[in-house]
Amino acid sequence: MADDQGEVPVPQGIIEVSAFMPDARANPHPKLKALREACPVMRDEMAKTWFLTRYGDIRETVNDRSFIRNPMSAEEGSINRQFARDEEEARRTSILFLDDPDHARVRPPLAKAFYARINRMKAEIEQIVDDAIAALPASGTFDLMEEIAVPVPVTVIARILGVDEARLDDFRQWSEDVILSLNPVRTPEETARMEAGGTALDAYFAELMEARRKAPGDDLITDMVQLQAAGDAPLTDDEILINLQALLVGGNLTTTDLIGNGVWLFLNHPDQLAALKANPGLAAQAVEEVLRYEAPVQATSRIVEKDKSVAGCPMKEHQVVFCSLAAANRDPDAFDAPEAFDITKKRASHIAFGGGPHICIGAPLARIEARQVYVKLFERFPDMKLPDQDVVWRALPFFRGIETLMVSV
Ligand code: HEM
Repeated sequence: MADDQGEVPVPQGIIEVSAFMPDARANPHPKLKALREACPVMRDEMAKTWFLTRYGDIRETVNDRSFIRNPMSAEEGSINRQFARDEEEARRTSILFLDDPDHARVRPPLAKAFYARINRMKAEIEQIVDDAIAALPASGTFDLMEEIAVPVPVTVIARILGVDEARLDDFRQWSEDVILSLNPVRTPEETARMEAGGTALDAYFAELMEARRKAPGDDLITDMVQLQAAGDAPLTDDEILINLQALLVGGNLTTTDLIGNGVWLFLNHPDQLAALKANPGLAAQAVEEVLRYEAPVQATSRIVEKDKSVAGCPMKEHQVVFCSLAAANRDPDAFDAPEAFDITKKRASHIAFGGGPHICIGAPLARIEARQVYVKLFERFPDMKLPDQDVVWRALPFFRGIETLMVSV
């Protein structure tokens, strides 16, 4: 399905390119293109934020270590301020919103343990994908999101962390509840569920940490408590808990959407699906192209610490700079024929995982899962089709994913 890239008016505020607007929710790219061409450094006074859309500006901004992330440092009234209601909440943050020196203390041991774990468990992760695909019905119509894209990432992360089989259902529910934190327009009921899920997860992780101290397992929680005991990870128990939760919040929905967006793209681009089936060796490049073309996380942000020039504009301390990863990923200055979904083309690196000190820690894991799904799903169902349906995209601002994707096999 080709994007409608007709002329559209230049958006005046970031709400217009968010999933709050039905047209941007269905397809944000025409409006992002209009902004990138006419107003690549936009100031939105209502949302109290800058909005960048050019690849070069965004690459430079995310790599620049002089920006900060703590929401309490952001301008009053900005979106970022909604992510931390008070100092206490801001202090109890994962690496996602942490600044140096704490970020430089907490991230490296976590990243090192996480990467080693993924390397060790690669075959097991692929097996989880294979089992989920083998369990699909041999014929009929089903929701790809419900059967594969949602359960695979949560089952994988449960296995990595060492969640007991008997607690898997609870763990799935709590994971879903804490992800509500990504939605700034939650209902009070959803906020209550999110908080209860967070409390339950904290309690369960604390229980697991104690259990693994006594009887080590073969999992990430064991790795973290052992590093901590050896003095190699100068982290408190609380910091370990918060950052384990961050793996769920940061990793589950995003990987779900990478899987869903990819299957949707392939089924809408039969030539690309044929290229993948003819040469499964293209799968790794295909994952990168899906990430570029329909980035599951559409934006990240930085906060100006001291007045400075950003993307050629003078910006003031505390101001928020939103970076549209989706717009950058289709910038013709960085990519040839950027509006074409083409898995066969060698392209410059996309920026779907952000960059610099906060670059996504879960990228290698998301890549393994998506690659395995694309290859094995179309191997088992070479004639998979999209039945007639109105695909509904998630209403979560700055995330891009499909709610339900019916497929026929
Ligand atoms: C396709 C899947 C994913 C996408 C598109 C994605 C995207 C992102 C982006 C854009 C950022 C912010 C980077 C920046 O501001 O420069 C980020 C950070 C992060 N992601 Fe992911 N992510 C994905 C999967 C995962 C997974 C599987 C995990 C863990 C299991 C994860 C954990 C995190 C964490 C902990 C951070 C914060 C890193 C820091 O601030 O130091 N992500 N991710």
